[in-house]
Amino acid sequence: MGLCCWNLGPLRAILFVLELTWMVQWSSGTPFIVQSLSSRYAIILGGYGPGYRELKDVEVVKHDRICKNAISEVPTDPGRFLGDISGMAEYINNTGVLFCRHSTCWMLTVGPNTWKKVGGFQNRRDRAASAAVDDTMVVLGGRDVDGLDIIGFEIFDLKSNSWVSKPEWNMAQGRYSFCAVPYNQTALLVIGGYTKDGAISSVELLDTKSGRWEILEDLPRARYGHSCLLMEWAGREGVLVSGGALTGNDVDFLDLKTGKWESFARLPFSTDGHKMVLVEGIPTVFSWERIDQFDGTKWITLDQRLGNSRSAFTVTTIPGHLVPKCL
Ligand SMILES: *[C@@H]1O[C@H](CO)[C@@H](O)[C@H](O)[C@H]1NC(C)=O
Ligand SMILES: *[C@@H]1O[C@H](CO)[C@@H](O)[C@H](O)[C@H]1NC(C)=O
Repeated sequence: MGLCCWNLGPLRAILFVLELTWMVQWSSGTPFIVQSLSSRYAIILGGYGPGYRELKDVEVVKHDRICKNAISEVPTDPGRFLGDISGMAEYINNTGVLFCRHSTCWMLTVGPNTWKKVGGFQNRRDRAASAAVDDTMVVLGGRDVDGLDIIGFEIFDLKSNSWVSKPEWNMAQGRYSFCAVPYNQTALLVIGGYTKDGAISSVELLDTKSGRWEILEDLPRARYGHSCLLMEWAGREGVLVSGGALTGNDVDFLDLKTGKWESFARLPFSTDGHKMVLVEGIPTVFSWERIDQFDGTKWITLDQRLGNSRSAFTVTTIPGHLVPKCL
């Protein structure tokens, strides 16, 4: 066991208790939002390595180890062109990871470990965001081929394996380099980003069932190129937001009950274009090959690093038991 896990020992115990609490809340019928169960591992996909080499290998990250060959390589798309930076992936349908780059998508069925090409986006999108909602994937915002901010959503239809536009969910303002976080089974939060008028601090909540938007308290500062996740911290549910082009190493937490933002411990380095997910319940930041975890008080840089230094990559999480090669 590495140094990382010693340090995280007490937190792991707290998270275990939290998980039990979640189960109790589920069983008592209280609707409770858990984006990632604490048994989930990170899956790192795509991006570019040194010399703008496209990376096809997939890495799986759990608390004590990085598994390099547990998942088949991402298929190549002969039509790709340089400059594509919109890698997005979500675990959906209880079966697999839908991974899209530029406007082409593949579905990885995690158990049998096979890739299959599925329908691509209707609109090309650069620096869009994605989220898993209602057990499928939505993609929103970004910049179109003419450099204009996109206000629209598309949702992946599991019956036809294709993307469908959802004009009824349009954002009031287009944006790119922002983040989208699932809020409950059907609602998602849209946070910050860049627009034709510059960086923004707005936080908006869409319930996809009703199509209703709600405005939440602004970020303390405008941000873009940041990363976000839904978590529980000391019994409080909220959204953690880290890094970004203007906000460097800032970390802020939105308490969903009070609706107020507060500052958390800063990252040990400034970063944007990084990714942040819960790995076995622990907020984990991936930046180039570096991995940092939040122990509830401070950020700890892991000794382990990704096998590749990656830019423009994407990360999502999958149930650990689906990757027996990484147990
Ligand atoms: C979704 O899950 C169903 C049932 O497991 C499966 O038959 C179907 O192929 C899955 N869809 C995709 C796109 O993987
Ligand atoms: C999800 O949140 C939205 C916005 O607060 C709310 O309108 C909706 O009822 C919630 N849905 C569920 C399933 O809890």
